[in-house]
Amino acid sequence: MIVMPQTKIAGIGYYVPSNVVTNKDLLKYMDTSDEWIQERTGIKERRFADRTGETTTTMGVKAAEMAMERAGVSASDIDFIIFATLSPDYYFPGCGVLLQRALKMNEVGALDVRNQCSGFVYALSIGDQYIKTGMYKNILVVASEKHSFGLDFSTRGRNITVIFGDGAGAVVLQPTDVAGQGILSTHLHSDGESAELLAMFNPGTHANHWINGLADFKDAEMAEMFMSHEMIDNAQNFPTMDGPAVFRKAIIKFPEVIMEALNKNNMATKDLALLIPHQANLRIAQFIQKQLKLDDSQVYNNIERFGNTTAASIPIALCEAWEKGLIKNGDVVCMAAFGSGFTWASALVRW
Ligand SMILES: CC(C)(COP(=O)(O)OP(=O)(O)OC[C@H]1O[C@@H](n2cnc3c(N)ncnc32)[C@H](O)[C@@H]1OP(=O)(O)O)[C@@H](O)C(=O)NCCC(=O)NCCS
Repeated sequence: MIVMPQTKIAGIGYYVPSNVVTNKDLLKYMDTSDEWIQERTGIKERRFADRTGETTTTMGVKAAEMAMERAGVSASDIDFIIFATLSPDYYFPGCGVLLQRALKMNEVGALDVRNQCSGFVYALSIGDQYIKTGMYKNILVVASEKHSFGLDFSTRGRNITVIFGDGAGAVVLQPTDVAGQGILSTHLHSDGESAELLAMFNPGTHANHWINGLADFKDAEMAEMFMSHEMIDNAQNFPTMDGPAVFRKAIIKFPEVIMEALNKNNMATKDLALLIPHQANLRIAQFIQKQLKLDDSQVYNNIERFGNTTAASIPIALCEAWEKGLIKNGDVVCMAAFGSGFTWASALVRW
């Protein structure tokens, strides 16, 4: 009988820019308040990357270097790169190849994942399959976001802009023969019915096919279809979100996908040492905790300091929790995410 190896997280790292932006700092740009932001989202401050000195890729590189050092491997040991982001340096090519170049890595495969908030868990799941089949031995999974470059900082965009922050997280995946150690299972889901409820439409090739009014093509020449002056004038190049609708769906799908992971492994919530929910909104995390009857010690949140860093939020939180000694060998950790798409996912890991 062929026994497939399991996948372990051999090293983990994160990076957040040094520039702290408080809720009060945002008052310079928009009509909002510290009280509103804290009450609705739990966020007190977030980090913004250096405008020209840092990119999604350079932040990812820093997180990756920490993860590789902790795994005891160098860039030349990595045989596959998976990079998750919704805020890439370029529309194309993706950040994976920019990271490969920056780290002077071998000519290994570089895959970009664009599943927004659940991007890291999707990336972890892909890496897990390649390790289990024996195809690769050292996979670098990176998740990074530079949201500060692509948000509407006027009052018009305040419901979205106050939520997001910049940062990066990374893990190195390796095979392990230790029975029951590592990634126990991953669970991936999608429902495109509400794709437009949390989205950035332009630049894109939609041509108002799915919904009218996504962009103003009135007098557009061919070359202006992708990015026009009208799009910019009408703020159609920024993300849009129906916050209450996202909230309603998230509080159903988060508990569902966490329980799916526990059930699959014949475990109950009491077996969870730590839940690392995607840091979407503290209210969502608190709702999940209450619904699953988890103790405070079983849930890790850091959104009050970093905001929502989309794909990067889970590896940043996982790394912080591990550094604080909250995750010990043998502990069962669940990562769960929900976001744009909608896509949602979970991963259950025994450390
Ligand atoms: C975004 C979110 C915090 C907004 O909270 P909400 O209570 O649903 O707010 P609404 O969008 O219904 O707006 C309520 C009011 O607050 C106002 N408002 C929105 N953003 C504001 C801000 N930053 N500061 C002050 N007021 C704001 C709105 O204009 C609206 O005013 P009105 O009633 O006079 O029209 C909340 O919906 C949420 O967290 N949803 C989940 C979204 C999420 O997690 N996304 C991340 C991706 S997974």
